[in-house]
Amino acid sequence: MKTIDLRSDTVTRPSPGMRRAMAEARVGDDVFGEDPTVRELEERMADRLGKEAGLFVASGTMGNLVAILAHAGRGDEMIVGELAHTFLYEAGGASALGSIHPHPVPNLADGTIDIDRLRRAIRNPSDPHQPPTRLICLENTHNRCGGVVLTAEYTDAVADLAHAEGISVHLDGARLFNASVATGTPPAELARGAESVMVCLSKGLGCPVGSVLCGERGFIERARRMRKLVGGGMRQAGIIAAAGIYALENNVERLAEDHENARRLAAGIAEIEGLSSPQAGPPPTAWTNLTYFEIDPDAVADRSLTADILVERLRDKGVLALPVGGEQIRMVTHLDVGRSDIETALDALRSAVNGT
Ligand SMILES: Cc1ncc(COP(=O)(O)O)c(C=O)c1O
Repeated sequence: MKTIDLRSDTVTRPSPGMRRAMAEARVGDDVFGEDPTVRELEERMADRLGKEAGLFVASGTMGNLVAILAHAGRGDEMIVGELAHTFLYEAGGASALGSIHPHPVPNLADGTIDIDRLRRAIRNPSDPHQPPTRLICLENTHNRCGGVVLTAEYTDAVADLAHAEGISVHLDGARLFNASVATGTPPAELARGAESVMVCLSKGLGCPVGSVLCGERGFIERARRMRKLVGGGMRQAGIIAAAGIYALENNVERLAEDHENARRLAAGIAEIEGLSSPQAGPPPTAWTNLTYFEIDPDAVADRSLTADILVERLRDKGVLALPVGGEQIRMVTHLDVGRSDIETALDALRSAVNGT
């Protein structure tokens, strides 16, 4: 039985073309700055994101961490959405390793943070009781808010507020290319308000490893030191950077297919009695490749059905989904699942809900 893995867009395996590019990559010692393929990827990504320079890192978590460490120091505060990946799922790295104080504020359903709420969260710099606010972190697309896109105008508005107070903005753009393809907005526009932006290669772009952090040259040099500090200096990393270059050339525009598949998936889920998905409804801006859904205990025939039971039943039918707490389940479309897999997954879901 073929397994249809919808837990995440990180489960993709490199394609034959990508593997070939990796095998043939020119390499050198990147800690000495001598890997031509890493340099090329960093330059190309910086160019796509409208920034001066880039830094290849092992993961999205490392990219966010070294960005935060390069922006802020011990006792400084960063404002972050309470549903942000940086706040929820990165092992508290900014505070554990940087002694940077997170100040979580509510995320609205569209992934934004209310601008007035942000304004109120900024500390009074002349009050010695308060930790100085150094950084605001945003996320685009917003994972826990359903893969929703933040507009360039919203990010600009946050940046205007931040910059007026001498505060920097970091954008966790793990899926920024999804945001760009879904809205037809160039990634550089989506990132223009932020001093730094991190983009993942290992998600919808289909690479086995890697993320790139971009920003001004001086910032990237500070981040490079922080990357070394956290053990992220890699040697002949061109082998994995080559996958990133291949992905930029081959896997960006096709993200539209993942978005279409996700729309079909969400619509199919919403037709199943007892299940509902926000992504089946109209998007605040645009939905992308994430579909969240939940079991409505009042509408489902089997009142004892939980997310864990449903995920187990799906697994038995060869479909993998991710329980994300409460009665919520996540399914993510990506380049290793096609349209017919979506129909198979929906069939499995229908029968799993009915216990058949
Ligand atoms: C929005 C967002 N940011 C950052 C990350 C971290 O990326 P990584 O798993 O490569 O550390 C993820 C991972 O899923 C994510 O969804």
